[in-house]
Amino acid sequence: MTTEQSADVRTGTDVVLEARGVTKHFPVRRTAGDLVARRHRTVHAVDDVTLELRRGTVTALVGESGSGKSTVARLLAQLYPLTAGEIRMGGTAVKAGRGRSFRTYVKQVQLIFQDPFASLNPVHTVRYHLTRALRIHGRAGSGDAELETNLAALLERVQLTPPHQFLDKFPHELSGGQRQRVAIARALGADPQVLLADEPVSMLDVSIRLGVLNLLRDLKERLSLAILYITHDIASARYFADTTLVMYAGRIVEGGDSETVTQHPAHPYTQLLIASAPDPDRVADEADQGETGSGEPPSLITPPAGCRFHPRCPKAMERCRTALPPRFDLADGQWAACWLYDGATVQAADAPEKEAAK
Ligand SMILES: Nc1ncnc2c1ncn2[C@@H]1O[C@H](COP(=O)(O)OP(=O)(O)OP(=O)(O)O)[C@@H](O)[C@H]1O
Ligand SMILES: [Mg+2]
Repeated sequence: MTTEQSADVRTGTDVVLEARGVTKHFPVRRTAGDLVARRHRTVHAVDDVTLELRRGTVTALVGESGSGKSTVARLLAQLYPLTAGEIRMGGTAVKAGRGRSFRTYVKQVQLIFQDPFASLNPVHTVRYHLTRALRIHGRAGSGDAELETNLAALLERVQLTPPHQFLDKFPHELSGGQRQRVAIARALGADPQVLLADEPVSMLDVSIRLGVLNLLRDLKERLSLAILYITHDIASARYFADTTLVMYAGRIVEGGDSETVTQHPAHPYTQLLIASAPDPDRVADEADQGETGSGEPPSLITPPAGCRFHPRCPKAMERCRTALPPRFDLADGQWAACWLYDGATVQAADAPEKEAAK
């Protein structure tokens, strides 16, 4: 390991998994009208998404329903082929395919879903689920005693103690929070480097959400995991994530450290999200909410030209209707894909030529 790499490991900044220009368009079932017009329509679920997940870091991906968050997680998990772009693991482009190469990939990158009831099989016990995960990933050990030790270690890691009280329980005998902890333990059975957590607490009772988020944070620190935390709730991103990315209609529109993005949002869409999120630290300005809170997400089959947020944006300018804003870097690592920051930026190299010349 070079000095530079070891410094990265110490400061927790090394990139484990990356998406570069990742795009996913789903074909839409053709109607009679499409056949007549010889039209193949697609849902632009994810367009040109670039993100990095770093060791020992939680990255939040925030956005409203249908913005493409789960599709990003599934693409990072290599469950779908990409329409364009690439996924890189440890700096190398990977295409998991099927069979052994997919299993090797899954060992490194584990998904946790919103609904632990649906992801655990109701006819099997905790012991069955965890034993299976350990066996699949070659971590069950040799012999019953070692398996038992490894099972207990997994349950202790997710704070289900004493382990013997949980091992022979069925999913319906556990609370929602305990079930999600079992799902997390099962993911840890692979000894992964990356956890992709798709709304891991949104089905849980409000009172136990914090416990599960604190557990994930503890695992991030103790196991140096890179965690992608998908949520609707930008307030929880501030609390829980180191970095926050904001997604709107298939594109990431803003990114930066969570404190900056949530306290000083740059993109009008992030400002809208924050204005509509309950935050005890902030007295809501209702007039302000009225200004930005209206409107519906756009169609992803025929997304708006230019900036996809322009039909809802109170600050939209003429160019926003036609030209896609590039990423403009602001201070302290924050960036926004918004024409408001053109000129005030250090990097406009990606801007379309016509726009850059203006
Ligand atoms: N397999 C699929 N086939 C066709 N369209 C899909 C498929 N999966 C997702 N989509 C579409 O892609 C868009 C993004 O969906 P996605 O589930 O990624 O959003 P999301 O941000 O996770 O939403 P939510 O917050 O409701 O979970 C939606 O318009 C959805 O209908
Ligand atoms: Mg989703």
